[in-house]
Amino acid sequence: MAVNVWGYLEEYREEKAEIMAAVEGVLASGKLILGPNVAAFEQEFAAYCGAAHGVGVDNGTNAVMLALLALGLEPGDEVLTVSNTAVPTVSAIVSAGGVPRFVDIDPATYLMDTARLETAVTPRTRAIVAVHLFGQCVDMEAVAAVAERHGLFVVEDCAQSHGAARHGRVCGALADAAAFSFYPTKILGTYGDGGLVMTDRDDVAAKLKKLRFYGMEKTYYALEHGFNSRLDEVHAAILRGKLKHLPAYITRRRDLAAGYDAALAGTSLTLPVTAPGNDHAYYLYVARHPGRDAVLAGLRSREVNLNISYPWPIHTMTGYAHLGYKEGDLPHTERAAREIFSLPMYPSLTDAEQDFAIAALIDTLAEVDGQTR
Ligand SMILES: Cc1ncc(COP(=O)(O)O)c(C=O)c1O
Repeated sequence: MAVNVWGYLEEYREEKAEIMAAVEGVLASGKLILGPNVAAFEQEFAAYCGAAHGVGVDNGTNAVMLALLALGLEPGDEVLTVSNTAVPTVSAIVSAGGVPRFVDIDPATYLMDTARLETAVTPRTRAIVAVHLFGQCVDMEAVAAVAERHGLFVVEDCAQSHGAARHGRVCGALADAAAFSFYPTKILGTYGDGGLVMTDRDDVAAKLKKLRFYGMEKTYYALEHGFNSRLDEVHAAILRGKLKHLPAYITRRRDLAAGYDAALAGTSLTLPVTAPGNDHAYYLYVARHPGRDAVLAGLRSREVNLNISYPWPIHTMTGYAHLGYKEGDLPHTERAAREIFSLPMYPSLTDAEQDFAIAALIDTLAEVDGQTR
């Protein structure tokens, strides 16, 4: 047996009839772009999240960028976020003309340490991108308090947190706008790229609809500068079917997490912590070990192939050297990047596969901890 951190083939086999019917329905309809499936999915997913509007876009990166632009970000505005996120969070801020400024993380949850947020505010700060990393929400009450005091707008980056909740409210409607990705690995994912921006504000939704469609309301007439950034009808049709399974996907992820919690308690791993008030959706189950690279090598030799999200903090990457940060500026972020790794986590992972991964991990830890003692 070999186990990987993620896989979709079993889920595809289970849902194949439904998925192929959705694809066939679109192809046979004659409507391929911005048709009824995009409109219906926008409405259905917004309703699931308790938001007034969803605007389907082509991927999660552009969802973040367009959300910032629609809320009025201007060139040179500073945007507070974290350095331990997927590169696209930061790339989207830069593409929107913003200047990312990084806040260190809480070492227990790996989320933005909101106690450090206010000291990062400058006269040029305009926005906060709160990244609900690994499947749990940032402390949005603390974020909102800082935003209110300084007149900032807030975007939730929900690419990793479909269905995660804070104080019983599903994310996506906890700020001025929220950006989702439907990249294949995501909690709600399609078989290609897709994204969506959610907002309660009518004006922002109207602006987003123009921005994703060359700045147009009416075909061939641009009211403003815009982009081609539409969610495809085929992916919207697939996502409508998958949305019905979302509660079951999340339940399975939570069961798998509970299985890891029980089996790995008392080992030398630091296991994930759920912040008070959060319902974790477990996009990833992230463990931590000071000898992480040796643990991953030991697991590979036992045919368990894991992943690190993320091995390099963005502020230390050459691609973002121009932001002026250096190693040592965000110590909790940098230490986490050296020690964390993600265990297999996806709804169709079987109990037997999980048991195999756990047994391999326990064996590997005995080996690695024996050497380092
Ligand atoms: C936190 C976060 N933000 C944004 C994105 C961008 O999404 P996409 O890959 O759909 O562009 C991702 C996914 O890669 C992500 O994990």
